[in-house]
Amino acid sequence: MAMSVSNPLVLGIESSCDETGVGIVRGTEMLVNAVASSMEEHVRFGGVIPEIASRAHLNEFVPTLESALSEAGVTLDEIDAIAVTSGPGLSGALMVGVAAAKALALASGKPLYAINHLVAHVGVGVLDGGKLPENLGALLVSGGHTEILQVNSLSDDVRLLGATIDDAAGEAYDKVARLLGLGYPGGPAIDKLAKSGDPKAIRFPRGLTLPKFVGTVEEPGKHRHDFSFSGLKTAVARCVEQYQKRGEEVPVADIAASFQEAVVDVITSKAVRACQEHGITNLLLGGGVAANSRLRELLAARCASAGITLRVPPISLCTDNGAMVAALGSQLVSAGVQPTGLKFSTDSGQPVNLISLVA
Ligand code: KG4
Ligand code: ZN
Repeated sequence: MAMSVSNPLVLGIESSCDETGVGIVRGTEMLVNAVASSMEEHVRFGGVIPEIASRAHLNEFVPTLESALSEAGVTLDEIDAIAVTSGPGLSGALMVGVAAAKALALASGKPLYAINHLVAHVGVGVLDGGKLPENLGALLVSGGHTEILQVNSLSDDVRLLGATIDDAAGEAYDKVARLLGLGYPGGPAIDKLAKSGDPKAIRFPRGLTLPKFVGTVEEPGKHRHDFSFSGLKTAVARCVEQYQKRGEEVPVADIAASFQEAVVDVITSKAVRACQEHGITNLLLGGGVAANSRLRELLAARCASAGITLRVPPISLCTDNGAMVAALGSQLVSAGVQPTGLKFSTDSGQPVNLISLVA
């Protein structure tokens, strides 16, 4: 049964990676955003270990739910709908949130929406002021994903313009930080160290940026708006090896700054070009790498010169969380979208055009 409530009270559940998130939203107002992260448990491995993340979700889900409900001062009974991330993400991790959401929906008789994690990142946009701007795009940059989206309608028309064909940007930061002996998570460490290095010291490759020609005419090419960071990671590894072979000290700060410049240069130039070529005039930034100081600086500058209005939500709403899932759920309820029901599975590769799964 589809319902169209104007200010629905929605519980959102997120467990696609290493954050167990439970958020509650009424209409476009965020009541609570409770998050438990298992990041510390992954430190010694230098990256998220799916099995450990799943186990942490199992341990953290009930306490996170209880604290969210009590902080918001609402009971499960009062909730109008439940929304849960069904994908994309780590299968085992997604399963914990989905199983919990199904159990809650079954026990309470509330409608359940199985929603898209990437589109939920964009859902955050409604939490400050209610309405999303026209001609909207989103740039999502995290440890698990790197995408450019065109958002014609949050409830029924989201398109993927570009994505990484190998590593995610945050993953590249984490791997390079490991090479440089900087620990995990690598993003904040490289961001900090880069401030004392020279971003022009080493010219690292910018993946998928060479123009494609047919004869003498430049053609858009298949991967025009896509990203690739694995070649960059290998280039950093080779560079470090060269210094070590020569018995020279590795200029860690210069490598960090030059690596960061390569990542940020590609992300910002590709995002702005995708916007220009698709009539996007408002861009929303999301994902954990949104915390990066150089990304914020260069993206703001390049958007400004291209006449694109950039919105960067508070970082607690950029990283994975339950409020973004609840915010998108609330938009779906208000738009009268049919709930998914209980008969669905996680979809670790859920495409962005599947904003919510159809039963
Ligand atoms: O969104 P998030 O918390 O989790 C997912 O990956 O989904 O993002 C975490 C990622 C990690 O790869 C981390 O290294 C990166 O975001 N990160 C940063 C910064 N802070 C976090 N990358 C670059 N600069 C930062 N300041
Ligand atoms: Zn995410």
